[in-house]
Amino acid sequence: MTPHPVSAESSPDSTPSLVSPSVPLNVRKEDVPLKLGIMASGNGSNFEAVASAIAQGQLNAQIQVLIYNNPEAKVAARAANWAVPAVLLNHRDFQHREDFDRQIVQTLRQYEVEWVVMAGWMRLVTPVLIDAFPDQIINIHPSLLPSFWGVRGVEQALDAGVKITGCTVHIVSLEVDSGPILLQAAVPVLPEDTPETLHARIQVQEHRILPPAIALATIRAKKERPDQMSGSRDS
Ligand code: GRF
Repeated sequence: MTPHPVSAESSPDSTPSLVSPSVPLNVRKEDVPLKLGIMASGNGSNFEAVASAIAQGQLNAQIQVLIYNNPEAKVAARAANWAVPAVLLNHRDFQHREDFDRQIVQTLRQYEVEWVVMAGWMRLVTPVLIDAFPDQIINIHPSLLPSFWGVRGVEQALDAGVKITGCTVHIVSLEVDSGPILLQAAVPVLPEDTPETLHARIQVQEHRILPPAIALATIRAKKERPDQMSGSRDS
């Protein structure tokens, strides 16, 4: 697919950007809704973006459950607003990462989740989770991977002095912030940027690319593993 330039928009929280590949917003209309489980640790603006895209008919999916790991996370209130069941699994209650991930898998299964979206999930995951949902876990990261993976991706970009950064949605594999890339958006770094101002503009793009990237992941999976894909009775 050909990348398409996105023209400058007048809103101050939006700058010229490039989103690639270009995908129609309303893909998968003909399919049965995807059953999503969202994992988040904090504010949850990406949770909100997915819920809004679904409500606006831009993504044919339903959020079966939100799993959050921080009792203070604002994302819990967002889930309540959207009437999405929210389950708090506090990693501090588990001695080993694997035990924590086993509980996550059990919860996702209990809510009949097919695709998992890590939308600001600030914990490392283990093969327990990845093997339970092979190639069906999606992550969003605030840099143009493979640059600036790991924590503080926005600060890393500023420290490196790059003039363009952005965000990436990818399929999760075991190494942190790696795995096949689904969609990226580029965001210019402005001379006066602070981590906060730059992150805010990156988040505008995150909200824009996460919903179509979820759809793209399912299209990709259907092509590669047509027999294993549920939620796609039309194939
Ligand atoms: C996003 O910038 C995402 O890329 C990163 O964590 C942040 C979560 O933001 N992984 P929010 O909680 O969705 O607002």
